[in-house]
Amino acid sequence: MPRGYFITFEGLDGSGKTTQIRRLAATLEAEGHKVVTMRNPGGTALGDRIRSVLLDSKSEDTVGQIAPAAEMALMFADRAQSIAEIILPALAAGNIILCDRYTDSSEAYQGGGRQLGSQRVLAMHAAACDNLQPDLTILLLPSLESSLKRARRRNQRQVAQQGTDENRFERESDDFYRRIYEKYKEIASREPHRVVTIDRNGGIEEIEKDIHDIVAKRISAAKPTLKASIVEA
Ligand code: TYD
Repeated sequence: MPRGYFITFEGLDGSGKTTQIRRLAATLEAEGHKVVTMRNPGGTALGDRIRSVLLDSKSEDTVGQIAPAAEMALMFADRAQSIAEIILPALAAGNIILCDRYTDSSEAYQGGGRQLGSQRVLAMHAAACDNLQPDLTILLLPSLESSLKRARRRNQRQVAQQGTDENRFERESDDFYRRIYEKYKEIASREPHRVVTIDRNGGIEEIEKDIHDIVAKRISAAKPTLKASIVEA
């Protein structure tokens, strides 16, 4: 059975992952690959509902304060569903999956940010995800200061323009983000083959080229025959 290639993108809020995923998907598609793009949380019917509970700061009015362990479990419920509905079928069909956030986000945000610790998160990853690991993780980790500035600007713009309020995480303190940043660095040094860190504060095009170079090299080493068109999940 053909097996595709599973790539995740990680970083702080505002690190530019979403733009880079869109660009990489377009380039890979133009090169003839089959690409599936997706995000955690969300992307399945169940995941979209979990996402709105988790991210909408107004959800605290309806569900009360979400306990850190409940937050972690909801992230993994979403992830388990996306593995079953999207990731495993796409891998079986030989596609390249570009996933915006995965278990490293849970380890960084819930393990580091919320201080649950890596062990609890990794135990949940084993239980809920059968330890499914990406083949490659691109970690966009420019300086903490520039990421925070961008995330806050973006959130203010979103609230002003669309009235949407996906900012429960973005109301957190700088210490929360500092712990996430440090946890990401720890993950990258623990798994240097899987996790490639891009830490320069370059422009979008330069970073896009860095990412494409890394991905092209890895894919051609692993899967010389991956081909075809884009599918939006
Ligand atoms: P998202 O809109 O994907 O943020 P961004 O575009 O900045 O990546 O929102 C996801 C938010 O949820 C983000 O603040 C990180 C957080 N998160 C966790 O805390 N744990 C997780 O396991 C995942 C997947 C996301």
